[in-house]
Amino acid sequence: MKKIKVINVVGCRPNFIKILPIMNEMNKHQEQFKQILVHTGQHYDGAMSKTLFEDIYLPQPDVYLGIGSGAHAEQTAKIMIEFEKVCIDKKPDLVLVVGDVNSTLACSLTAAKLCIPIAHVEAGLRSFDRSMPEEINRIVTDSLSSFLFTTCRDADKNLKREGISGKKIYFVGNIMIDTLIKFKAKAAANTWKKMKNIDYVLLTLHRPNNVDDKHALENILEALHEISKRMPIIFPAHPRTQKQIKVFGYEKYFRPFDLKQINFINSKNLINLTNPLPYLEFLNLMINAKFVLTDSGGVQEETTFLGISCLTIRESTERPITVAEGTNILVGTDKERIINESLKIISGRGKMGKVPKFWDGKTAKRIVNIFKKTL
Ligand code: UD1
Repeated sequence: MKKIKVINVVGCRPNFIKILPIMNEMNKHQEQFKQILVHTGQHYDGAMSKTLFEDIYLPQPDVYLGIGSGAHAEQTAKIMIEFEKVCIDKKPDLVLVVGDVNSTLACSLTAAKLCIPIAHVEAGLRSFDRSMPEEINRIVTDSLSSFLFTTCRDADKNLKREGISGKKIYFVGNIMIDTLIKFKAKAAANTWKKMKNIDYVLLTLHRPNNVDDKHALENILEALHEISKRMPIIFPAHPRTQKQIKVFGYEKYFRPFDLKQINFINSKNLINLTNPLPYLEFLNLMINAKFVLTDSGGVQEETTFLGISCLTIRESTERPITVAEGTNILVGTDKERIINESLKIISGRGKMGKVPKFWDGKTAKRIVNIFKKTL
């Protein structure tokens, strides 16, 4: 029997976490699948890429495109040019993309023009805010895909509303949760478990809307400063955010923080800033946090699964199920609202939630079963 040749695409930090369980599952059926892992190099810093591969034992990429940063068109175009060469050389039967980053879009466009079928994992999410680059990436990728794997029924509805045939849509659950379940015990046992005895807030912030605009960022930092008077904040900061803090001269809100010396005494209400953390360390911090403040997509889902309160510093979310069923509250970017909702949680009035259907660690198995039946 001829093997099905699949190119798996990764580019950014969250992609690595999503591709892992699918690759592991396909590996169990090596007689049927031949896999090629392509890393576009959209994320290239050690902390954003290399340590993540090591942390979750993701195999080294077979092909590294080394694209790096750039304006949207430039980055997307460079990935397309290089990925086209890979597709022509490797002649895959399927290109598998995950999430909604520029690498997802660029590789989908390339594959579609070469008439190679595309599988999109995490299809159908919509924020209905086209000022987010990810929303454009999601819409275009979904419109080009032959297999649309969704995390929730809302996503199925979004796709059908856009005219996508129900035959291509498969509700399989949340792939990030497969990885979280696999590594949760290991993460909980790692060095920082002593954090358990300390109440703290975990923060992530990297959306261009929040960090590229001086006033938007200052507004959020003022809210965080108020919150940190009541509870210490730990902030593993994305390189984009670290850069913007320097550009705007907002270093006064922060103090450098080393997780190995957990010491909030004399923090003087400053935000405790570290470099981006490996997956297991970040997961450990999330598991033990009093609550999480974020503008990330995946973190909204991970906190819902873990039952940890999450306040999302955005005006919209493409993951409304985390609000409808989970622990997430959309607080927007209004300073008072961020402070008030945080104080509610600090005083023990956090939101309860439940785990959505099929966020159960078996999503990769469902996906690969569908490939086995249909390809
Ligand atoms: C990308 C995704 C975003 C995702 C995030 C996850 C797009 C449009 N955005 O955003 O959806 O939530 O990844 O982390 O694809 N930089 C470095 N080192 C790196 C990577 C980035 O210094 O390894 C800095 C550079 O200054 C770069 C900036 O971050 O210009 C932005 O990087 P980019 O890959 O364009 O988007 P992200 O903000 O990382």
